[in-house]
Amino acid sequence: MLSLLPLLFLTPTLLSALTPIPCKTPEACIGGDPSSLHLVQPLDGEDPTPTLMLAVSGSGAGEAFGVRYLHQDDNDNSESYWVMGPDSYLDPPWSSLYLTNGNIAFWAPEFVPASEPESEVKMYYSISGVDPSVSSISEFCVGLAYGTVNSLENITWVDAGQPVVCVSSSQANNGAPHAIDPSVVKSGQSLYLTIGSWSDYGDGENQGARGGGIWMTELDPKTGMLKTEVLEECGDSFPNCFNNVDFINAANHRGYNTDEGYLDGNSIEASYIYHHPLTEEYFMFVNWFYCCGGVDSTYQIMVGKSLDIEGPYYDKDGIALVNTSANTTGTTVIPTNTSGFIGPGHAGIYWEGEEGIFTNHWEASPGNNMLRTLHAWRVRIDEDGWPVLGDIY
Ligand SMILES: *[C@@H]1O[C@H](CO)[C@@H](O)[C@H](O)[C@H]1NC(C)=O
Ligand SMILES: *[C@@H]1O[C@H](CO)[C@@H](O)[C@H](O)[C@H]1NC(C)=O
Ligand SMILES: *[C@@H]1O[C@H](CO)[C@@H](O)[C@H](O)[C@H]1NC(C)=O
Ligand SMILES: *[C@@H]1O[C@H](CO)[C@@H](O)[C@H](O)[C@H]1NC(C)=O
Repeated sequence: MLSLLPLLFLTPTLLSALTPIPCKTPEACIGGDPSSLHLVQPLDGEDPTPTLMLAVSGSGAGEAFGVRYLHQDDNDNSESYWVMGPDSYLDPPWSSLYLTNGNIAFWAPEFVPASEPESEVKMYYSISGVDPSVSSISEFCVGLAYGTVNSLENITWVDAGQPVVCVSSSQANNGAPHAIDPSVVKSGQSLYLTIGSWSDYGDGENQGARGGGIWMTELDPKTGMLKTEVLEECGDSFPNCFNNVDFINAANHRGYNTDEGYLDGNSIEASYIYHHPLTEEYFMFVNWFYCCGGVDSTYQIMVGKSLDIEGPYYDKDGIALVNTSANTTGTTVIPTNTSGFIGPGHAGIYWEGEEGIFTNHWEASPGNNMLRTLHAWRVRIDEDGWPVLGDIY
């Protein structure tokens, strides 16, 4: 579909003039936990041109997730800008079955067309509930909705009818990662899901919490649900499969420094695996540290890579991401405070030719009332094989 992407990535001068993409309206930039960009083909409507689209977290005002798309002018790339698409108001029928107090909020959608461009798309999302015995948001599932892009302003969603996977509060309290932040990536004919999160589980003494982290397993490429063999392993525990299924632990960040000193824990979430078409490498992006504290957020985006989807993923220092901790520096893609933009989170990449578009959110953005905003910049791979971003917006 190169011809449909008008010279955007192919003009050599763009490589030196790395211009971030502005928002059509301030609202178009507000949003958290973006998925990566994908090319979608609306079935009908005013603008049937294949369009780059991503999804962002629900605001907590009831919508499961929203979409943003990139308006691209056919002739002049300087006219590209983000536009706000429709919000979804899914209410998955299974939420009260598996989440004690039903659905509380949605987070971190992951958007995957079967091929691109495609009008039939899949949307994975995190959904949370409250277990009163723990009295905090403590139960999470990954859900899946199938979408039809009728037009850029009209996408219809149908829930898969079952969660993909959940982690109960008792499992999480014993070290399991939360079933949040799904990332879905193809590897040959296979489809992989990563989930995972923070955990405070540990003995609190040896600076190495044993719980949490980023974990992966295989999906059925057709349905997008857990693969049949994985479902068999899970058995009657479905959807709380973590203790029965042989998930692969792909990344950790054990121990962390705070103003109060060195604490136990595993401060990692928001994984995103990107398969690079040029090098055949898989890049795993993760967030270290804390989200959600506005200007006090300490999120930063880190990366590792592997030729094998199942890892191990290594950082620039040759440390496997499963072994990264407060004792290792890791490979930073975006630091916590980047020219006053605070807390970069949730990486995504869309690639075309020699260059790509990299998306993330900021926990606080100057110029947007320090709100959580969406950002896109040009990305390329440097001579040493690591992603390098363009200028800050
Ligand atoms: C969205 O598109 C569907 C399918 O064409 C149609 O049935 C529905 O009425 C549309 N909804 C709106 C709000 O336009
Ligand atoms: C960090 O290094 C110290 C000293 O080698 C060790 O005791 C500690 O367990 C390490 N912490 C982590 C989280 O790996
Ligand atoms: C992680 O660290 C342990 C302990 O040093 C080591 O045995 C293991 O090989 C490391 N894992 C990888 C994938 O490098
Ligand atoms: C972030 O860095 C800028 C300098 O680029 C500084 O002025 C600002 O105070 C920093 N903000 C925070 C919250 O640390």
